[in-house]
Amino acid sequence: MKFLVLHGPNLNLLGKREPSIYGNQTLADINSSLQDLSAELGCELVFFQSNIEGELMDTIQESAADCHGILINPAAYTHTSIAIRDALSAVGLPAVEVHLSNIHRREAFRHVSMIAPVAVGQICGFGGDSYLLGLRALFNHVKNI
Ligand code: DQA
Repeated sequence: MKFLVLHGPNLNLLGKREPSIYGNQTLADINSSLQDLSAELGCELVFFQSNIEGELMDTIQESAADCHGILINPAAYTHTSIAIRDALSAVGLPAVEVHLSNIHRREAFRHVSMIAPVAVGQICGFGGDSYLLGLRALFNHVKNI
């Protein structure tokens, strides 16, 4: 099984970016913990981060060729991007949406996700563990399809 791990805008700044909200882990730390978990589960991961909406869409479209699911933190595009939502719908791969912070206890504009209605589920509020929980959930979901 192979999964795309997609990180949206500003997540390249993790570690330095508002650590009181997003924690001290860097994106490399998060990817490395996901890599460890993938070895335990027995699946393959491909990682991609971009600050550019179109690049995220291109990568979602390309993943249809050889991936079985998508673990995505769309970051700020969560709240605005119908285009990313449409790309996920178009490829039809199971997607799990994750967030480091609990978007539902933050500003009102973060309470709405354009992505959630096309995702299998959403995990938020557990820092880097949101990604690990998300990968386990995605793996189990795909295994049982
Ligand atoms: C985020 C939450 C979003 O609201 C925010 O724009 C981000 C990060 C998170 O992981 O908590 O950039 O997706």
